[in-house]
Amino acid sequence: MTTTKSITARYPSNIALVKYWGKYGEQMPCNASLSMTLSQAFTEVKLSYTQKKSKAPALVYSFNGQPHELFRQRIFNYVTRQKAYTQLLEHYSLRMESTNSFPHSTGIASSASAFAAIAAALLKANSASEMNFTRKASCLARLGSGSACRSFYGPFVLWGQLDDIRGSSNDYAIPVNAVHPNFRRMSDAILIVEDAPKKVSSSTGHALMSGHPFANARFKQANKHCLAMVAALKSGDFDAFISITEREALSLHAMMMTSQDYYFLIKPKTLEIIEQITQFRKDTKLPLCFTLDAGPNVHVLYPESIQSEVHSFLKQISIKSIIYDHAGVGGTVF
Ligand code: PMV
Repeated sequence: MTTTKSITARYPSNIALVKYWGKYGEQMPCNASLSMTLSQAFTEVKLSYTQKKSKAPALVYSFNGQPHELFRQRIFNYVTRQKAYTQLLEHYSLRMESTNSFPHSTGIASSASAFAAIAAALLKANSASEMNFTRKASCLARLGSGSACRSFYGPFVLWGQLDDIRGSSNDYAIPVNAVHPNFRRMSDAILIVEDAPKKVSSSTGHALMSGHPFANARFKQANKHCLAMVAALKSGDFDAFISITEREALSLHAMMMTSQDYYFLIKPKTLEIIEQITQFRKDTKLPLCFTLDAGPNVHVLYPESIQSEVHSFLKQISIKSIIYDHAGVGGTVF
């Protein structure tokens, strides 16, 4: 009799405050990055695995209830490349049913939540051992999508080796341990300027950093920003948090605009919103700021304590839609 077992993993996405942009080798980052873990924007993956006789790997995949061949192929390639999953693949045929809590192409990194959930579910199914589970899963998630390795902790997470931060590594992410009460309850309102899929993939963008004339300066800047951000999070310094976060968003897009095959992901509306946010901050002295991912949509970050002021301000912005989220602590397997 064949038996089927199943495991469900639910992991959130994250938004980088200090951006990972440029990689080498096996998804190794050229600089350290630091992110805020989200909570409402998550991927849930139900992994069912059934004993089989043939040794050939088998994966059935669905996304939001529908087969999706492009995603299946990417995940199949990922699963078959990792030694950590060999046992599982040899003895079981796999079925993954993946659902996202958030709409597609909205500036929320779906590959981060998806690969975090996939890696955690597969690792749990493959080995009974709980030893260093989160670290191992973070490492495996990184091999699927770099930023996914940061979705395992929260609210703030560092990925990338920095001499001044004990335990930091290029292989996996670690939590930022000392967080001042000012930053314990942060919110993220995602302003949807456009919800079309990205014109240029992250992989293409990362690749354009090799040979980029400003690459070395950028990598140094990001590492410096990570250290400064860790210090700001510890001391509760909003001014530093805002200054680093906004310059990081602009540096990321400046890299895209100055690469050999330059491209723009921001839109006129993106700049209009950025100006409105910075003006509102000047007028009110409230601690809110913007960041951008690889796309035109604007993330507005602010402490929950000023939520009502920020919500009334956002109502004045003419925008397609807004997704409200807040910082979270990572995911679970059940
Ligand atoms: O994880 P990837 O390969 O999709 O790259 C993510 C890159 C950014 O989202 C632009 C920045 C980041 O650190 O998340």
